[in-house]
Amino acid sequence: MTTKKFAVKKIGVIERYQEFMPVTERTPIISLNEGNTPLILAEALPKELGLENVRFYYKFEGLNPTGSFKDRGMTMAISKAVEEGSKAVICASTGNTSASAAAFASRCGLKCFVLIPEGKIAKGKLIQAYRYGAKVIIIKGNFDQALELVKKIGENTPITIVNSVNPYRLEGQKSGAFEVVDDLGEAPEYHAIPVGNAGNITAYWKGYKEYKKAGKCDLLPKMLGFQAAGAAPIVLGHAVEKPETLATAIRIGNPASWAGALQARDESGGLIEAVTDEEITHAYRFIAEREGVFAEPASAAAVAGVMKLAQRGYFQPDTRVVMTLTGSGLKDPDFAMSFEDDMHAVEPTLEAVRKVIGV
Ligand code: F0G
Repeated sequence: MTTKKFAVKKIGVIERYQEFMPVTERTPIISLNEGNTPLILAEALPKELGLENVRFYYKFEGLNPTGSFKDRGMTMAISKAVEEGSKAVICASTGNTSASAAAFASRCGLKCFVLIPEGKIAKGKLIQAYRYGAKVIIIKGNFDQALELVKKIGENTPITIVNSVNPYRLEGQKSGAFEVVDDLGEAPEYHAIPVGNAGNITAYWKGYKEYKKAGKCDLLPKMLGFQAAGAAPIVLGHAVEKPETLATAIRIGNPASWAGALQARDESGGLIEAVTDEEITHAYRFIAEREGVFAEPASAAAVAGVMKLAQRGYFQPDTRVVMTLTGSGLKDPDFAMSFEDDMHAVEPTLEAVRKVIGV
């Protein structure tokens, strides 16, 4: 019996897209087989919008190993940190980055410190950071303040920052664009994405451009970024000191990759707009209740934005629109259950159950 028979093919984004990644033979690849997430064709959405000549797709990043797109960048950032001899990593986070950093650090024995805003992080994400063994530091402040602190610590200590100010994060995250093109056989005409710290829109745009240059696609999409109305610094053109939105993942007032987002918007001929919490909630419920796709509120910002643009007649016929659904709906159980007021138990009798069903 040879061991070969038992060899498991690694399918993480670094190995899959090696020629586009800043790696050498010496880079230890720390992977959880992230990426390779499904591009799900929307069925209810085009009907709802009366746009049956446009194909809408959900790039469902909730199926990554820690339940968000952050794993694509984290495999790269952590692999490089290990290559460079780092012993510890640190990040500020609205939740998903901390979950992902903690998981990848645990996989290779790095210490992990995460700074999170008190009371403004979804329960699933907090649980992940603790269970993957990170040192969780709860800040009496918001994400922007936490990120400032992390940057200062990174400057003065040998601890590696794994927020998207670390350029390796974006290198890994650009693989999302590669996968979309690999699945469609071409770039879509439009790509919609929620914007918080603005790393992901920057990374996707970089990915599309690199893939086009390599001859993998002929088109480049218009990049459509969506911020929550109470946390929309890029839309307003100035930092927001007290950002507020129920989509806590994108509750950010001074994004680190602001310039990258503007570049993506302007080079692609796209736009960055705001969607209200009500619009986010509507989209969040729509994709779960009508499409069977359960994503977190921040992810639904992309769908809310697409719904709004469609109502203004923005999308040309016979085009494709991809929406990145950045994280799993299971991340935020409190928000998910906040709509249910009828949860009382009934007697375990046929009569009681029949009464509820109405048969
Ligand atoms: N969607 C989700 C679910 C996120 O967690 C984030 C960012 C975004 C969208 C926005 O992406 O920052 O690249 O523009 N979450 C970060 C975190 C800030 O700490 O987990 P971005």
